[in-house]
Amino acid sequence: MSDRLKVNVCGVDFKNPVIPASGTYGYGREYECLYPLSMLGGISVKGTTLNPRQGNPAPRVAETPSGMLNSVGLQNGGAKKFLEYELPNLLTKDTRIIANIAGATAEECAEIAAMLDDSAVDMIELNISCPNVKQGGAAFGTSCEAAEAVTAAVRKSLRRKPLMVKLSPNVTSITDIAKAVEAAGADALSLINTLLGMRIDIKTRRPILKNNVGGLSGPAVLPVAVRMVWQVHNAVSIPIMGMGGISTWEDAVEMMLAGASAVQVGAAVFADPYAPIKIIEGMEKYCADNGIDNISQIVGCVEPW
Ligand SMILES: Cc1cc2nc3c(=O)[nH]c(=O)nc-3n(C[C@H](O)[C@H](O)[C@H](O)COP(=O)(O)O)c2cc1C
Repeated sequence: MSDRLKVNVCGVDFKNPVIPASGTYGYGREYECLYPLSMLGGISVKGTTLNPRQGNPAPRVAETPSGMLNSVGLQNGGAKKFLEYELPNLLTKDTRIIANIAGATAEECAEIAAMLDDSAVDMIELNISCPNVKQGGAAFGTSCEAAEAVTAAVRKSLRRKPLMVKLSPNVTSITDIAKAVEAAGADALSLINTLLGMRIDIKTRRPILKNNVGGLSGPAVLPVAVRMVWQVHNAVSIPIMGMGGISTWEDAVEMMLAGASAVQVGAAVFADPYAPIKIIEGMEKYCADNGIDNISQIVGCVEPW
């Protein structure tokens, strides 16, 4: 691979802009027998909470037209297990490691961030789509005040690592939330997390997911994600990692034209575990064919009508 795909997101160098998205790639263990993880720009690991979590009861995934619903619910072994067991293995893979974190309160998020600040992860990605137990369970990311407060609390607990805040699309104005998070000290934004959805089995008349509702992701959400990345890119000055429905290199290029400095690939890896590699190869060829010296040159370059 040439240097054409090298990107920098808030001071962190990535060999290419393609990163498997949190929760869809675990800690890479299931994929490393297929290809070297060093081929990836980075890995955003499964959401880490302070204590281990079982997640929601099954069934917790359902197929949808051009996508999927999930209500996995942050199943993970907790911050200590991540630091002692998963991270040492990931650090041997020669790729950037993004630690995705979540908590039930701003204080809990800050505590996990502080634990990771001294580790060798490259970046913290704060998932603000999870319920804030001190605010009646509404997701942090659905109000400017809560999004700002949790971002500020985590920012305060970090001395070394850049902070990327991952936005929820389940809001009226994504730009208002993005601006609030930027003002609270985020170094970068990532979007979108899943869109809240529901399916019902017409024979049993029961919701397909035991949790009743879940998050929609996959190709179906790409236009929503591109729209939100474009709007946010026009509203803030910090870099964006774009995700939501990317399954081909063309989708990734589209997301970067909308304003993403790098992309994350989620549900697509379930259909094709090689999707991130095919996207990297496709982008490399796209740059060569179009005389683009570096892929960063296309960020936000959608032409206005
Ligand atoms: C099974 C599953 C688990 C996920 N777990 C997390 C998670 O732990 N933390 C997080 O921030 N996002 C999580 N996500 C959201 C993805 O990282 C991504 O934002 C979303 O799926 C949109 O991208 P996609 O359409 O490419 O999948 C999860 C998504 C799926 C499908």
